[in-house]
Amino acid sequence: MSVTVTIPATSANLGPGYDCLGLALGLTNRITFTEVAEPGLRITVTGTDAHKVATDETNLVYQCAQIVFDEVEQRPSGLHIHQENSIPVGSGLGSSSTAVLGGLLAANELVGRPFTRAEILQMAVAAEGHPDNVAPALYGGLILGIAGSEGLHIEHLPVAEMRVVVVLPDFHLLTSEARAALPAKVTIPDAVFNASRTPLLIRALETADYGKLTLAIQDKLHQPYRIPLIPGLAEAFAAAYAAGAAGVALSGAGPSLIAFAPSGHEAIGEVVTAVFAQHQLPSRTWILEIDRHGSRIQASGL
Ligand code: HSE
Repeated sequence: MSVTVTIPATSANLGPGYDCLGLALGLTNRITFTEVAEPGLRITVTGTDAHKVATDETNLVYQCAQIVFDEVEQRPSGLHIHQENSIPVGSGLGSSSTAVLGGLLAANELVGRPFTRAEILQMAVAAEGHPDNVAPALYGGLILGIAGSEGLHIEHLPVAEMRVVVVLPDFHLLTSEARAALPAKVTIPDAVFNASRTPLLIRALETADYGKLTLAIQDKLHQPYRIPLIPGLAEAFAAAYAAGAAGVALSGAGPSLIAFAPSGHEAIGEVVTAVFAQHQLPSRTWILEIDRHGSRIQASGL
């Protein structure tokens, strides 16, 4: 039996929605689990940043599959995992969420689907620590996720047809470092700043109101502390706005940037690339649609 899961990239935070808002994007990783007769584990990886992905038992897809196999006390004796990646690793585009969900969903399918999607999401949030990448990667579209002591609440938010520009500078920034850069406490004015903009952002994305987006995408909780960590990023934001972007944000914990614009996406990508080049950083650019499917599963040989 073989199961293939296709999982989209995600951009978390979107400016003010730190750790709670995320948008699925039209760039995907594919993960295939094949049950084989020969006992043991084989992991192969192709595509973007394949050399950065572990192919032993520390592989994140495999580790998340183990969560499901352990829960049901059932596992295939021989397993081949193949990852076909298009999402760069450590980019702020949710590549680790694709591994977490791919492992959980494929394993769940192989053992007869004992867990619902909502249960899989809870396991994924427990593995990731926050819902803003895994929830849109599972369901697609724009998602608000609240994870706390009262459990997990997921809100599917309407989002207009939009295209975004994503530019990823070749700069290494661990999510753990980007999180450690944040203060333990924030001021009431900064909290109000974000609390006022988050609902405006949701409205602006629902209606594709690019005029509102410029005000709505501002943030004081995480970006002011993270932007200085990435060479040229402050200038890149300014250049994107000057080239016609309506809203620019750090994608997830970075180092990629996401820009919303009604038109001129290529030109925005080019000016941002030029800024990073001035800081000796090559970069990669994508112009992406919003993904509305979320994670898709194809099984064969059942
Ligand atoms: N909300 C998370 C952060 C996304 O900004 O740290 C990265 O996983």
